Amino acid sequence: MEVCRLGVLISGSGTNLENIAINIEEGRIPARITVVISDREDAYGLVRARNHGLHAVFVDPQSFPDRVSYDRELIRILRENSVDLVVLAGYMRLVSPEFVEAFRNRILNIHPALLPSFPGTSGVADALAYGVKVTGVTVHFVDEGLDTGPIILQEAIPVLPGDDVESLHQRIHEVEYRLYPEAIRLFCQGRLKVEGRRVVILDERED
Ligand code: GRF
Repeated sequence: MEVCRLGVLISGSGTNLENIAINIEEGRIPARITVVISDREDAYGLVRARNHGLHAVFVDPQSFPDRVSYDRELIRILRENSVDLVVLAGYMRLVSPEFVEAFRNRILNIHPALLPSFPGTSGVADALAYGVKVTGVTVHFVDEGLDTGPIILQEAIPVLPGDDVESLHQRIHEVEYRLYPEAIRLFCQGRLKVEGRRVVILDERED
């Protein structure tokens, strides 16, 4: 099988990135991370990436006049590194329509809530504040909207009495560490078919 080349975009701690890197190292995803890009110089994910021997770069948004030109630079770097699939892993910026078009149906995001509930950058806190009894994790393709793209995988997580943002996010992370590698594996095996808003998961081919 062709190895799938991943470009991972981060802004923060990068525990999902590291978990994906470990899954690849241990042979569970037929992929290779060819570049990691951060929009923040102090993102600890850059350190994690380099600890795993990955090519990791900081691209400063302040060096660009606007989002479109920043995203053009990201597109250039991703193409330079022959990226097949863009993986957003705690990347806190909304990507431009041009970026979405450049990698149509080849950008994944993971969101710490059950979309379409609680989109945006504070999904865990918003769900908790709303008082829901169940929240969860969503992996989806990225389209032009904010967390609106076709859903690939979701898993529910109960909110427990006494939960705070930290305890709930910790349990959400545990699910993310299973769901994101699984979604990437399905993509890399060519088993995700987008039909309008619906993502069909194809059976594993025997070859
Ligand atoms: C995750 O909870 C993810 O759902 C959200 O941002 C968080 C990133 O965490 N998009 P980490 O940087 O991977 O630790």
